[in-house]
Amino acid sequence: MTVSLPEGFEFRPISLEDKKDLVKVLSVLTEVGNVTDALFEELYAYWQKNSDTYNPIVIYDTKKQQVAATGMLLVEQKLIHAGAKLGHIEDIAVSSEYQGMKLGKALIDKLTEIAIEDKGCYKTVLYCAEKNVGFYEKCSYKRDGVEMSKRK
Ligand code: ACO
Repeated sequence: MTVSLPEGFEFRPISLEDKKDLVKVLSVLTEVGNVTDALFEELYAYWQKNSDTYNPIVIYDTKKQQVAATGMLLVEQKLIHAGAKLGHIEDIAVSSEYQGMKLGKALIDKLTEIAIEDKGCYKTVLYCAEKNVGFYEKCSYKRDGVEMSKRK
């Protein structure tokens, strides 16, 4: 599977220069909080060092030279299923000005492709709000179990 994007857009891994754009794009998802340059550099270095696990990518608008969307693939190395790998799709956000252009679907398709084809995951899972179920169904994901959480 090769995931295509509209002309002028490209997939690439997150880079150190993306901090300001990422804070803006992720604000459509949740409150990002105070991410200092030092914190971002530390996180970036951690993700780079642990790139078997952390795969943060962006869709970049090469004309406007800004990040249009971002998402993360986390690869969990399991003991079960003979040491199988499970992909987790996390922190998906398409900047408001780019929503409705099929960039969100392209992002999910790309992260799923990386999980299955590059990382060898047997399955890819994600947690989402009820209002986004229709979007993920368009990306060929299905309801599967119940997500639960406990906050501090
Ligand atoms: N409900 C139902 N269908 C939807 C929704 C929705 N909320 N959003 C988009 N769709 C449909 C579109 O109409 C389109 O359908 P079509 O192919 O029949 O025309 C298809 O899904 C693909 O839509 P895209 O244009 O790719 O969607 P977009 O680029 O706007 O991205 C997204 C969707 C990611 C939900 C975006 O609106 C967004 O960033 N929202 C705010 C942040 C957010 O909720 N992120 C997801 C958190 S869950 C997680 O991180 C695992």
